[in-house]
Amino acid sequence: MERTFLAIKPDGVQRGLVGEIISRFETKGFTLVGLKFLNVSRELAEQHYAVHRQRPFFAGLVEFITSGPVVAMVWEGDGVVASARKIIGATNPLTAEPGTIRGDFGINIGRNLIHGSDASETAKHEIALWFKEEELVNWQPHLTPWLHE
Ligand code: GTP
Ligand code: MG
Repeated sequence: MERTFLAIKPDGVQRGLVGEIISRFETKGFTLVGLKFLNVSRELAEQHYAVHRQRPFFAGLVEFITSGPVVAMVWEGDGVVASARKIIGATNPLTAEPGTIRGDFGINIGRNLIHGSDASETAKHEIALWFKEEELVNWQPHLTPWLHE
């Protein structure tokens, strides 16, 4: 089954949106397989955002993601990578559709509440970066067989 890495950024935590954001994925029907609340080290932040190393906003991005605690999660489900990106919405909250997390709660591109892996391969890389194998819970909700055709 496909997995994705999601992280509620410091602004989502500080604004008290942790429950609201987790609910979007839980009520959609995806399965939570990993969750932790942590202060992100500079090293982890730089590795996580390595693809953006040359961008002008990189230093600010690392500064921000290390500025307060983050909720790191792994979610599982068919098509979860692309679906989670839809639930999250466009990078810039001002153009993100209403109904998406960023569209409903965000107003600034540098404070867009949540990160979601952009592809299945990226997800594998990010999950390995943020979680040890033993921190992930291999389980299936009892409803799963009933919910699928
Ligand atoms: P993530 O899920 O966080 O990776 O966002 P994304 O995939 O929608 O966007 P992308 O990977 O291109 O950028 C990573 C993060 O860098 C974004 O979530 C923004 O917080 C930030 N970012 C991207 N573009 C800009 C920009 O032009 N200015 C600023 N200040 N931040 C940016
Ligand atoms: Mg991205």
